Amino acid sequence: MTDYTNRWETVKVDVEDGIAWVTLNRPAKRNAMSPTLNREMIDVLETVELDQDAHVLVLTGEGEAFSAGMDLKEYFREIDASPEIVQVKVRRDASTWQWKLLRNYAKPTIAMVNGWCFGGAFSPLVACDLAIASDDAVFGLSEINWGIPPGNLVSKAMADTVGHRQALYYIMTGETFTGSQAADMGLVNRSVPLAQLRETTRELAATLREKNPVVLRAAKIGFKLCRELTWEQNEEYLYAKLDQAQLLDPERGREQGLKQFLDDKSIKPGLESYRR
Ligand code: COA
Repeated sequence: MTDYTNRWETVKVDVEDGIAWVTLNRPAKRNAMSPTLNREMIDVLETVELDQDAHVLVLTGEGEAFSAGMDLKEYFREIDASPEIVQVKVRRDASTWQWKLLRNYAKPTIAMVNGWCFGGAFSPLVACDLAIASDDAVFGLSEINWGIPPGNLVSKAMADTVGHRQALYYIMTGETFTGSQAADMGLVNRSVPLAQLRETTRELAATLREKNPVVLRAAKIGFKLCRELTWEQNEEYLYAKLDQAQLLDPERGREQGLKQFLDDKSIKPGLESYRR
């Protein structure tokens, strides 16, 4: 098992029982996402993706914040003073991990929102497949409060998860909302008291860890893309995805599942997974 202690300056990674706990680690700055953190997170995600001991990734934050969004000093003010080409690179690094890598990640991902979650943090939040928040976590699209419209994929993330009126209300007022409200509006799957957050997340990660990884990947990527395709394209694409999963699956999960249900009568797929 790889020991990641002190490998990154702004991110901590611990792999336990097949779960990679990836913790944004700038608690004194409420885990604001600086250019250094963004660069490091690309490396973190690429490293964990290839780690054979990590089957599920949980993204969270150290201390009282999940993330206070983009670093207003290091990502905005300091980069404003740099040559324009530096801004191109710095923005690309942010996008690369906050949504491109995470959204298409080869392993299942869960955002565990332990506290403050503002602005730019909505991109990785929604790019993760699933999300659990503490009831009292505080969310906000604060951009309007300091003079910019939400950038990068923040509005898109809201449009993808939350209804039109709710999304515009929070984008236009900058008002905060809690983890419980985030669960009610579908921005996260559920919220729980902070004391239960880690255990609840661990249980969900353990459920995902037991699923067939090749099929899980095809299912989640297929779903994410299907919104953007027509019905005809979807039929072709999702059948192709199904055939691809069957072709690539070393476990032959489909055969196993059919055999265990139809011949052995040892499972009920409506209620449980086939035995791996
Ligand atoms: N960028 C840069 N620094 C940030 C930051 C951000 N997004 N959010 C917090 N920090 C820094 C503060 O500047 C402060 O640094 P200092 O100790 O060197 O002065 C430190 O983190 C602690 O912040 P503080 O405001 O004292 O903490 P708090 O617990 O009272 O409040 C927040 C937490 C998250 C409510 C508040 O920090 C905040 O509003 N942050 C900005 C959130 C935001 O608008 N993000 C959107 C960016 S796209």
